[in-house]
Order: sequence, then structure tokens, then C-alpha cells
Amino acid sequence: MPRLRTPAALALLAGVAVFGLGAGLTANHFEAKGRLEKRAQALTGGDPVTGRAAIEQRPCGGCHQIPGVRGASGKVGPPLAAFAQRTYIGGRVNNAPENLILWLQDPHAIDPQSAMPPMGIGPREARDIAAYLYTLK
Ligand code: HEC
Repeated sequence: MPRLRTPAALALLAGVAVFGLGAGLTANHFEAKGRLEKRAQALTGGDPVTGRAAIEQRPCGGCHQIPGVRGASGKVGPPLAAFAQRTYIGGRVNNAPENLILWLQDPHAIDPQSAMPPMGIGPREARDIAAYLYTLK
């Protein structure tokens, strides 16, 4: 009868358990991210993945810290972390999708004094960017 190599068997079991836990957590993470993206899409009619790419092409990151956007570490405007939980946009209007989409196209339409400049963003791109911002919980 082969000797039972308990430590090795235990180590293997532990390894399997840790791997399973890791895979489970990762799956959970992607599920949660997927849910956030679907919700943001439904709210705005835009696509958060395209929106994130658009933000990277625009100068947003020079003025804002934006989680998930490479190099977005500006301190001119407020950080956009947890933007989905913000009550107001620019301290002026309710944080509602149509207001955000308008703000992104022309901040001065909402607050003529705002230091955030219009950037020539059209409605399609504004929806995509808004969708990304609403994934920030
Ligand atoms: C030149 C700097 C500058 C650039 C570039 C800029 N912003 Fe802003 N942004 C600001 C400032 C300043 C405010 C605060 C405005 C206010 O309160 O009137 C602001 C406010 C905002 C708000 C409202 C935040 C809140 O909590 O009220 C959002 C959302 C936003 N910016 C997104 C963007 C996005 C997306 C881009 C790129 C497409 C961008 N900004 C580009 C300066 C900038």
C-alpha cells in the first residue's frame, strides 16, 4: 500500500482551494464590473469602453484625477472618483444623465462661469464619456 504523503496532499488541496477562491473572486469582480457597465449603458445610451478611450484622447486627465484612465492625475478640477455617487454637476444641476451629457458638450450651457472649457465634444461622444463616468462608483 502506498504511503499517504499527507503534507503534499494537504499542500495540493490548499493550492486548489486558493486557486478556486482566486478564480471566484476574479469572476465576481468581472461580474460586478459587467453589471456597472450595463447600468451605465442603460442610463446614458453610450458605451463606457468607448467612453474611456475617448477620455484618454481628450485633455480631461490634465485637469481631473480619473480612476481607470492612464495619466489622468490633474488637480485643476475635482477628482472624478465615485462620480456616480455625486449629487450635483459643477455644483449647479442634479447629477442626471441628460445633464451630464449636456455638461460634457458645453459646460458653459450649465454654468457660464465654469473653468471647464467646451472641447468640441458632440452628443455621441458625450454619451460614451458619460457612460464611463457612471461606472465610477
Ligand atoms: C482645463 C481644465 C479642465 C478640462 C480639460 C476638463 N475639465 Fe472637467 N472640470 C474642470 C473644472 C474646473 C470643473 C469644476 C467646474 C465647476 O464646478 O464649475 C470640472 C468639472 C467636471 C465635472 C463635474 C464634476 C463635479 O463633481 O461637479 C465633470 C463630470 C467633468 N469635469 C468631466 C470632464 C471630462 C470628462 C473632461 C474631458 C472630456 C473634462 N472634464 C475636461 C476642469 C476641466
